[in-house]
Amino acid sequence: MAEIRKAAVIGAGVMGAGIAAQFANAGVPVLLLDVVPAGASDRNALAEGAIAKMLKSEPAPFMSARAAKLVTPGNIEDHLARVAECDWIVEAVVERLDVKQELYRKLDAVRRPGTAVSSNTSTIPLALLVREQSSAFAKDFMITHFFNPPRYMRLLELVTGPATDPELALSVAAFADVKLGKSVVRCKDSPGFIANRLGVYWLQVGVVEAIDAGLTVEEADAVAGRPMGIPKTGVFGLIDLVGLDLMPHINASLTQALPADDPFQAANRELPLIARMIAEGYTGRKGKGGFYRLDRTGGTKVKEAIDLSSGAYRPERRSEIPELAEAAKNLRALLTSKTKFGRYAWRMLGQTLSYAASLVPEAALDVASIDAAMRLGYNWQWGPFELIDKLGAAWLAERLAADGLPVGALLLSARDQPFYRVQRGRRQVLGTDGEYHDLERPQGVLLLEDVKRASSPLLKNASAAVWDVGDGVLCFEFTSKSNSLDADIIALLGQTIGLVQQHHKALVIYNEGSNFSVGANLGLALFAANIAAWSEIDKLIAGGQQVYQALKYAPFPVVAAPAGMALGGGCEILLHSDAVQAHAESYIGLVECGVGLIPGWGGCTEMLGRWSTSGLLPHGPMPAPAKVFETVSTAKVSTSAAEAQELGFLRPSDGITMNRDRLLADAKARALALAANYTPPRPVELKLPGAAGKLAFDLAAEGFYRRGLATDYDRVVCAELAAVLSGGTADLVDAVGAEQLLGLERTAFMRLIKQPGTLARIEHMLSTGKPLRN
Ligand code: NAI
Repeated sequence: MAEIRKAAVIGAGVMGAGIAAQFANAGVPVLLLDVVPAGASDRNALAEGAIAKMLKSEPAPFMSARAAKLVTPGNIEDHLARVAECDWIVEAVVERLDVKQELYRKLDAVRRPGTAVSSNTSTIPLALLVREQSSAFAKDFMITHFFNPPRYMRLLELVTGPATDPELALSVAAFADVKLGKSVVRCKDSPGFIANRLGVYWLQVGVVEAIDAGLTVEEADAVAGRPMGIPKTGVFGLIDLVGLDLMPHINASLTQALPADDPFQAANRELPLIARMIAEGYTGRKGKGGFYRLDRTGGTKVKEAIDLSSGAYRPERRSEIPELAEAAKNLRALLTSKTKFGRYAWRMLGQTLSYAASLVPEAALDVASIDAAMRLGYNWQWGPFELIDKLGAAWLAERLAADGLPVGALLLSARDQPFYRVQRGRRQVLGTDGEYHDLERPQGVLLLEDVKRASSPLLKNASAAVWDVGDGVLCFEFTSKSNSLDADIIALLGQTIGLVQQHHKALVIYNEGSNFSVGANLGLALFAANIAAWSEIDKLIAGGQQVYQALKYAPFPVVAAPAGMALGGGCEILLHSDAVQAHAESYIGLVECGVGLIPGWGGCTEMLGRWSTSGLLPHGPMPAPAKVFETVSTAKVSTSAAEAQELGFLRPSDGITMNRDRLLADAKARALALAANYTPPRPVELKLPGAAGKLAFDLAAEGFYRRGLATDYDRVVCAELAAVLSGGTADLVDAVGAEQLLGLERTAFMRLIKQPGTLARIEHMLSTGKPLRN
């Protein structure tokens, strides 16, 4: 398979720039070219401007500042010939057939034959794009449709034509999957491919039906969002997010491309309110606002929503809709409710599911592709066919027919069979041949979800479970709410160490929650503090320290594999592992100071050891504690795994997996590689600055306080942190061992948890999710 060592992206707009950033995030050098602006003195101004803008954008397109250096800006007049150095050229210029075709002709003259060329077009068929190109070009051409923003949206739709070299398409797909972290869904060369074809239809129906039913935008979004496993932005909130002005363009292009009898044509009604909003600059969040807006007049922020009939803004209204309470468990009940909400839910979802069923095989090879496209491209929790299974295909078909809506052959043929079933522990999907087929995972994809379906846990309690993931490797899974850490987890971890030691080779700590762990369970900590159960809290701290130490020095390798947030105690477990295999989107930090505490499960100790032995800091007892003080006192959280390496939460040798689905397999492989010749780490002794260092930290904290950068209570917390990081009260503390440092952590933690200032911070965090600056 062709290797992709260098890439080019043509067009440095919203998508091109973001795609280039994702290549850079994968460590692949990339050329980013745009046109030369008329009369410009800087001929690369557009690409350079795009990079500069991305360095300031939120959410950040780059995973680290290092990545940005891999993007080389240029222009198509001076630098097009440099695409000959590249193995994949992505075209992301304006959505105009003539512009794209002319660019392809120029590219064909300078590229190396065999270099993949792909378009990011959302609406132009592949057949049209290559119609006037050479056959050599058509052989190397495909559509790779990324979603916005390219770093964060996991879906990549891939369309090949009859002339496309299948081997080359496989290379591009494999690279997009493993290196860019995308889930590749193959689509037919049909208008809007899969996700936008169905997604735009759903949005259009969602708007039209809400207007017809006389619902408010808040009511419509409440019905269309959470109960169906759809993000809470629902329909109107999502249009605000993508931009109202995009809708007429996409709708027009679908109208033009789709046959007259396609259900989209009937749904695509002219909506004067939306036309007026766009004309007045109400294009959504990027403009003056959209269906929702923040009214800042009068110095306060008031969230408002538009009245769909009058077009006037009024304060947002939270609506109580009783039938939504049970809807997630019983979707049928919501869809058959006789209220206007039930009617809306049915009209919107019924038509969307019916349309989804009509897209196989015209737009998609199978139902699983449609489900994947909607889960990954629109963040639906369940794809349309998974939703149909909740309702029953026969039930849905009957209701559609009763309402005079199209039923479609696929729904009829499914009858009362589900689209998905589990047989002998394997998930299967109903094919168009009427038979069930195993859902095969791509090579290198191992999901705990699949392991759990096919086996029982070896150990389990209320907050964690242990699974056998094969080849002598066990997987420790947190199962508590938000994967918060508690005494049950600590206890089961202790038991697991014994189990691995007896019968297995290695341990992986991993789960498939949206966050690896949000840290210790603060609710329990607050409860214990409120009843003054100090000895219980102290026991939990001591117990956690012991188990983390046992994990570190166990006679087998431990690999932690985080994705999403790994905070506080969740970060400390990474620090005690032999290696970490992190998902690229890992947000790691020791955030204890934010709730008036300090890392007490060995976090301070491990960070000190790490920086002292890193070889990256100047010699002497002060640099390592100073580095840790800076990171921990400000509760810094990395915005990616790459940044976690810069902050010292991950080692340079720790691995990063771009594709979430490959994380467990990579972690397991890493654990087995370590197991081959494993010796546990040796304890290190540190030279720390002692009382003089503590004084320096206290002075620094005082300085921050005077400049208004630290609060009153920050000084108290910082003083406790300083007491730990300086290693004790002697003048210059030589050879401090882990045991002594852990003792200092525990003492400082226990002193802080008894303070009203800390309890106020914890309470505030629990009730608002934000730190209290007391
Ligand atoms: P954009 O308008 O932000 O950027 C287009 C860029 O192409 C501009 O910087 C323009 O100067 C440049 N350009 C125009 N002609 C050029 C040429 N001949 N050579 C080099 N550069 C040229 O557009 P956006 O949104 O980034 O869209 C790009 C492509 O991606 C389109 O095909 C669009 O349909 C597709 N797309 C857009 C999505 C979105 O959410 N914006 C999502 C998925 C696909």
